[in-house]
Amino acid sequence: MSKVVLGVAGGIAAYKAADLLRKLTEVGHDVQVVPTASALNFVGAATWAALSHRPVAADVWTAAEDVPHVQLGRQAELVVVAPATADLLAKAAHGLADDLLTNTLLTARCPVLFVPAMHTEMWDHPATVDNIATLRRRGSVVLEPASGRLTGTDTGKGRLPEPAEIAQLAELLLRRPAALPFDLAGRHVVVSAGGTREPLDPVRFLGNASSGRQGYAIAAVAAARGARVTLVAANVDLPDPAGADVVRAGSAVELRDAVEKAAEDADVVVMNAAVADFRPSDTVDHKIKKSGGVPAPIALQENPDVLADLVRAARPGRLLVGFAAETGDSTATVLDHGRAKLAAKGCDLLVVNAVGPGKAFGQSDNAGVILGSDGSETSVELGPKAVLAAALWDAVSARLAANGRNSAS
Ligand code: CTP
Repeated sequence: MSKVVLGVAGGIAAYKAADLLRKLTEVGHDVQVVPTASALNFVGAATWAALSHRPVAADVWTAAEDVPHVQLGRQAELVVVAPATADLLAKAAHGLADDLLTNTLLTARCPVLFVPAMHTEMWDHPATVDNIATLRRRGSVVLEPASGRLTGTDTGKGRLPEPAEIAQLAELLLRRPAALPFDLAGRHVVVSAGGTREPLDPVRFLGNASSGRQGYAIAAVAAARGARVTLVAANVDLPDPAGADVVRAGSAVELRDAVEKAAEDADVVVMNAAVADFRPSDTVDHKIKKSGGVPAPIALQENPDVLADLVRAARPGRLLVGFAAETGDSTATVLDHGRAKLAAKGCDLLVVNAVGPGKAFGQSDNAGVILGSDGSETSVELGPKAVLAAALWDAVSARLAANGRNSAS
């Protein structure tokens, strides 16, 4: 259980912060809500008090003897501001402190996560762009807004990311306060996620149990660290991570085409998708009927190996990351299989994890070992998938920096 301050600024997305609050308290965090005066015009104090099980802290004068404008920031292990309006970001960037939330931001020494939501024009305004750059330079985490429907009938960039995604990144910062540096700015990363489906007929397919959660966490963490992210999603039923460009693919061949296209100018490709090794040789264009009797055994043909193809077409400076979901058997452990797969695939990094009943697939937690082609092995203990994602980006970032140094010398 951690002490979290949830700052809520005055935007219509304040109503979504109620859901975020619920998610933070449900996992046991002690959340103090600090709404601005404008936020209370959108969602009243009673809602925040009921969901956080404590009175809201809305001004610097109530219970002044406890010096709330200093205490809240000092005690917090994480401050999340959601939504962060253009006005709030401007105040934070300039160190203004005219209410309890801005005072708290000045006294906090813990990680601060700003989650902007505003109209596209305000997001794109040079003043906002500069303010965000200032906050990031000082070490605050500022998420990219999601794209889609805004308050009116207009659409564009500026929506608050999904509360589940914000909660996931908040949890990551509580466990690993330095997990979201802005170190992938200017990089294009491609992440594949989910599991391919190889059609047998228009309604049936050969598939697998991948939910896409690990790949989505990898994409969300990369976007929060500043990368331009293309997420190739195979049959995933999860909301798009904010800031990622999502390309949908069904089968292995579709996924190969989408990944290869996106990888053309990529600095990193992470092949997290569970790609079917084989597909039915013949696809029937009508539903196979029971009345036709037991069908002939399904003939299969090999699918492209996307990762192996990328390794063959290696481009200097482009890092390739594979995943290996293994069970271990009588001949070798999970880790042995992972080491052998890294050697066979020839990628730069490979994350090996154990799968089986109740492990990895469809779960929100994962554990794994990040194997490097240089012989390095980094274990990540069981925890939220975003924690494994952050450890992977640490490994990638270190290699990108080393490549940069080598090419400069
Ligand atoms: N992969 C791929 N294309 C395939 C199969 C796998 O790009 N047709 C990628 C996966 O995305 C993953 C890595 O290769 O990053 C390892 O996948 P895995 O299924 O474990 O490896 P396989 O080579 O298929 O080995 P096996 O199934 O025999 O363990």
